[in-house]
Amino acid sequence: MGSTIFAEMSALAVATGSVNLGQGFPDTDGPREVAQAAAAAILEGRGNQYPPGPGIPELRQAVAEHQRRFYGLSFDPDTEVLVTAGATEAVAAALFALVEPGDEVIAFEPYYDSYAACIALAGGTRVPVTLRAPDFRPDLDAVRAAVTPRTRLILLNSPHNPTGSVFTRAELAAIADLARERDLLVISDEVYEHMVYAGEHVPIGSLPGMRERTVSISSAGKTFSFTGWKVGWVTGSAELVAAVRAVKQFLTFVSSGPFQYAIAEALRMPDDYFTGISVSLREKRDLLCGGLAEAGFLVYPPEGTYFVTTDIRELGRATGVEFCRDLPHQAGVVAIPNAVFYDDREAGRTQVRFAFCKRPEVLQDALARIEKWALAR
Ligand SMILES: Cc1ncc(COP(=O)(O)O)c(C=O)c1O
Repeated sequence: MGSTIFAEMSALAVATGSVNLGQGFPDTDGPREVAQAAAAAILEGRGNQYPPGPGIPELRQAVAEHQRRFYGLSFDPDTEVLVTAGATEAVAAALFALVEPGDEVIAFEPYYDSYAACIALAGGTRVPVTLRAPDFRPDLDAVRAAVTPRTRLILLNSPHNPTGSVFTRAELAAIADLARERDLLVISDEVYEHMVYAGEHVPIGSLPGMRERTVSISSAGKTFSFTGWKVGWVTGSAELVAAVRAVKQFLTFVSSGPFQYAIAEALRMPDDYFTGISVSLREKRDLLCGGLAEAGFLVYPPEGTYFVTTDIRELGRATGVEFCRDLPHQAGVVAIPNAVFYDDREAGRTQVRFAFCKRPEVLQDALARIEKWALAR
């Protein structure tokens, strides 16, 4: 239902002239020099034909350098890094590579909508562990209880979309202990790694004994605000990366040739680019969270990502789905009901997600509309 609701809400945004805070993409492109690097690659004939299957060496090298620079992790660019068509393909290829029909996959709900689809396509069974309001912490006893002899892997996403929860080192260590104890693999989706406002991003693959059982995934889309370029990557042991590569070969084979050259340069930008991402997003987070709280939403300020989850139970609608269908008509703003990201619909029934990766004036316009609507209610 995830993608259906996105289509419905985007159509409603257009039909009603609403400010669209539903979909998670920025309304400003990333750094100009990165765009210029992509244009130069195209004009100079770099990447216009099929690039190498694992990704161009320059990008694999840059990904390896990034993992070392930010997390002290070392990966061999030739065997332990794979370039994918965004994180979406990386998640799909990793699940198809590692999950056999009948295997169980533990995933924290609410989840990014491709997870459920890809686990099903792999013939696996998803076993949800629910992150619950108000703080959306992983319930470690529930994770432990969810493991059965059929469990193959744990699918993690921290910083977490849509709740904004950032798993702590202690929480990740407990999950890592369990993975080692029960011989489980971990797929770790870290696309929001540079958007953290509280705590720190810890790659689970950096914890003791986890390197050989973790497939880590990230993407240029979020970090560099070029979501349309679809440049993602996988890092992990040579064995796991080879398994993912074998599947990727028959999904897209290769993708995004010239953009790979540009992202190789982007990953080498100075530290202040990366720290600046959270600084500017934090201001937007505070602006949107403050305005929504004033309008009567129960706000769960996110520790990471560019989404905020709210609760609308005081706002006159029984469910987030009804609320989100009405809001464009009544206030001229589009948001997404979190219920579509849960198997346990009850847990997310009154939750609604807003994206704040928009220009301040767009957020202000949305808030002015919501305020007007709230006053008129
Ligand atoms: C948790 C999560 N994983 C993966 C993706 C997709 O990343 P990409 O655009 O690189 O495929 C998204 C995008 O919204 C996401 O929120």
